[in-house]
Amino acid sequence: MKRQLKHKPFSTYVIPELKIARKRLKKETETIYFHLDDNLVGFGSGKYYHIKTYGCQGNLADSEKMAGILEAMSYERVDNDEKADVIIFNTCAIRENAENRIYGELGRIKGLKEKNKNLLMIICGCMSQEENVVRTLTSTYPQVDIILGTHNIAKLGEYIYEAATHNSRVVNVWSEEGDIYEEIPVRRDHHKKAWVDIMYGCDEFCTYCIVPYTRGKERSRNPRDIIKEVEKLVEDGYLEVTLLGQNVNAYGKDFVKVTYSFANLLEDLAKTGIKRIRYTTSHPRDLDLDTIKVMGKYPNIMPHLHLPVQSGSNDILKKMNRKYTKEEYLEKCEYLRKYVPGISLTTDIIVGFPNETDEDFEGTLDLVRKARFEGAYTFIYSRREGTPAAKMEDSVSDETKKERLLKLNDLINEGFYQGNKRFEGEILDVLVDGYSEKDPNMLSGYTEHEKLVNFEGPKEIIGTIVKVKIEKAYSWHLRGSLVK
Ligand code: SAH
Ligand code: SF4
Ligand code: F3S
Repeated sequence: MKRQLKHKPFSTYVIPELKIARKRLKKETETIYFHLDDNLVGFGSGKYYHIKTYGCQGNLADSEKMAGILEAMSYERVDNDEKADVIIFNTCAIRENAENRIYGELGRIKGLKEKNKNLLMIICGCMSQEENVVRTLTSTYPQVDIILGTHNIAKLGEYIYEAATHNSRVVNVWSEEGDIYEEIPVRRDHHKKAWVDIMYGCDEFCTYCIVPYTRGKERSRNPRDIIKEVEKLVEDGYLEVTLLGQNVNAYGKDFVKVTYSFANLLEDLAKTGIKRIRYTTSHPRDLDLDTIKVMGKYPNIMPHLHLPVQSGSNDILKKMNRKYTKEEYLEKCEYLRKYVPGISLTTDIIVGFPNETDEDFEGTLDLVRKARFEGAYTFIYSRREGTPAAKMEDSVSDETKKERLLKLNDLINEGFYQGNKRFEGEILDVLVDGYSEKDPNMLSGYTEHEKLVNFEGPKEIIGTIVKVKIEKAYSWHLRGSLVK
């Protein structure tokens, strides 16, 4: 039976607790079907919303759902703060600088409330799942009207209604993960490329990472709901889907009654006929041979994988609780290259984890050389309150960490360039996104290997897949010409 989300009275002051967020209860996830309450229909008529999204694709996908709810309430979208009646900050807590940016922004737009007395300022996303952040926001940021967390975005409309009609503040953040909401309306940003959540949460508990606390327990969406969503996207003319989860290879492990893995899902989705399938993020320990083989079997599963390694030192990997070794990681790269010839591999790396030695760091450089990455996001370790690594002693100076980052980036950039260079002279399929941000006379899009290509062409081909001859490789992009 379909259980619907019903408007129930809620407390307007619920703040998150780390102690609870850390727990993993053995409880089966329920699927709840979204329903917009009658009193919310038309509530936003004549009013505007603006959503600012920070952090990962998970947040981008959540923002599209919140936009969908707001538009179902008749709010209209604007892309500036001045005209907006509702401003939403969908925040990220992954590193300290991500959080500082938000505090800076909040200060900057404080004055807007004097101009528009009815303006509602909303904070959601991962920062609002942090106990200390919510305490700071409620005590020192009176300009914030609503704080909700990552588990209850489906309730956005109700909180807006409450705050606007009673002129009161609503703080409602659940520490324990919620159930899975289906059929939330989605207002997608791209007409040809779509994010598709396949699971929520993370149970890995890497010792440096805040995500298992901010996103809760791993919960997989029912395969039928995902397949239906992708079939509908194909019908609507979408060409590409990116399957999302913090650890997509753990998909299905929480199912009690059925055995159905990520490899099964990938295969079923490949059969829907969608032109391009990507997925992120993969955990090196859970990435299995079945998945790699399915990638090799279907040409519509793209030959690119983002496989975060974090470090090339076995000692550091152990302290990070990553549960694989450098050698095991490299072995998976070899399997990927064997079954998906020419695959492009990218990664994430953290330098300066507590007490990382020069030798540990050399191990990372060595791994980067051996894995032949064609791109990477590199970070200096940032201490996150409440995580196990936050308690670890750290004698490495900031200067050393910065030097390591620069050195690592030089190597990564070289890999990036080589990864582009290998396509010079080839004719590649490019999904055209639109005009290039850097040069408005050029079109730009991505190849199957997720390489950015700029080329000249008519605007009519935007949103289609075309053939482009690659003429020159640069560090960050390729230059090509349209094959007529
Ligand atoms: N679930 C994904 C990515 C999560 S966050 C995964 O496991 O790969 C994206 C990246 O941010 C991580 O891969 C990691 O490299 C980085 N990151 C996470 N916590 C961090 C921290 N405390 N300091 C610095 N970088 C961090
Ligand atoms: Fe964080 Fe690790 Fe989970 Fe990724 S797998 S979200 S790094 S805890
Ligand atoms: Fe940031 Fe939360 Fe994503 S911490 S990286 S927005 S899961």
